[in-house]
Amino acid sequence: MKLNNLIIAASAAILMTGCQTEEYGWIKTGIDRAQHQLMLTASEIDGTGMMPRSIWSGYDLDMLSYQLGKDKAVFKDSLRTHPTADKLGKRRLCGIYDWTSGFFPGSLWYIYEFTGNEAVKAEAAKYTNMLNPIREYTGTHDLGFMMNCSYGNALRLAPNDTIPAVLIQTADNLCSRFNDEIGCIRSWDFGRWNFPVIIDNMMNLDLLFNAERLSGKPCYRNVAMRHADTTMPNHFRENMTCWHVISYNNDGSVECKETFQGKNHDSAWSRGQAWAVYGYTAIYRETKEPRYLEFAQKIADMIMEKVTTEDAIPYWDYDAPADTDTPRDASAAAVTACGMLELSTMTEDGAKYFDYAEKILKNLSTDAYLAAPGENEGFVLKHSTGSLAHGSEIDVPLNYADYYYLEGLQRYMKIKGIEYRNL
Ligand code: GLY
Repeated sequence: MKLNNLIIAASAAILMTGCQTEEYGWIKTGIDRAQHQLMLTASEIDGTGMMPRSIWSGYDLDMLSYQLGKDKAVFKDSLRTHPTADKLGKRRLCGIYDWTSGFFPGSLWYIYEFTGNEAVKAEAAKYTNMLNPIREYTGTHDLGFMMNCSYGNALRLAPNDTIPAVLIQTADNLCSRFNDEIGCIRSWDFGRWNFPVIIDNMMNLDLLFNAERLSGKPCYRNVAMRHADTTMPNHFRENMTCWHVISYNNDGSVECKETFQGKNHDSAWSRGQAWAVYGYTAIYRETKEPRYLEFAQKIADMIMEKVTTEDAIPYWDYDAPADTDTPRDASAAAVTACGMLELSTMTEDGAKYFDYAEKILKNLSTDAYLAAPGENEGFVLKHSTGSLAHGSEIDVPLNYADYYYLEGLQRYMKIKGIEYRNL
């Protein structure tokens, strides 16, 4: 390159970097705060053998009654035990068999991916390795959440010879929950249902495609596609909102269509809609089957129409009272942003999905949702809701809100060609 051209190229690079700094300062703020919070948490919980999950929150029966649109007598038996006063407002830890155990290590992996910080990598590896016993576990469908978010990210960012066997064994255990007659993976082993399948289960399919890549065996893909194909006609209403729980009879017919965490059986539980758009976008990525893409677009369009909050961070249920006091669910927003960002790269009219996801991420990166350093018991985002219907985790941080927020930033930066070091 001639000297003049070199100077022009260098000036352009400086200018671009300058622009990135200004325009994308919100990304740097989000990542820097997340790094601070997660490393603080890692040191504070060191030696407990536990993962950070949330903050203990209480509930008010009148508020629940208003949100659920039900008389207290109807739901009060389903409420979880109120946390004792000494726990309220404190960090809630969970064991490795909790469905959310993979999100803390996964979040650390994303921070390492952004920053290249070796200290973060060491913590990510440490907390990932704590999950090794899960490779033997068959008691839930959540194995994908637990192991793909932890070991799956480890495989991407710090591969070694032992990770593939862990992921393949876990995928085999997930497949052991598949019922060929019904065409689905069983979600839960608790409750009164014959064969419950929840929409969240779409999120566990990515693990199966990882296992296919690692093993070369097509059986994982077959299970994933059968599950997605059975879910399409049964889980979704005509308006493209979805039920939370579908239970099947042994012959594959539907036993019942219900909610567990939503407002009522006919409502659209916010995180369920988010799992759906993410899940069908992901399976299109892996299969390139147009039916999944079309489906994901319809779900995304429904979300953009139904979410009425100005900042696009939904209430905990789309059918909850549209009220300033109604708890939001930042986790649903973050998952939605991830799904929409990926979808935006797959369709001709992708800009509308990209813009929507950008709006969510920018809003989550403001002080309204992003915790100040040292606050929020070391979590990154505020204002999520775990299960209002059970009086549990209302308007609190959740480890999966943090994970999908960081994944959303990663997807956004990849699409835009943004590097953390240039911010
Ligand atoms: N997978 C459980 C939840 O989304 O709350």
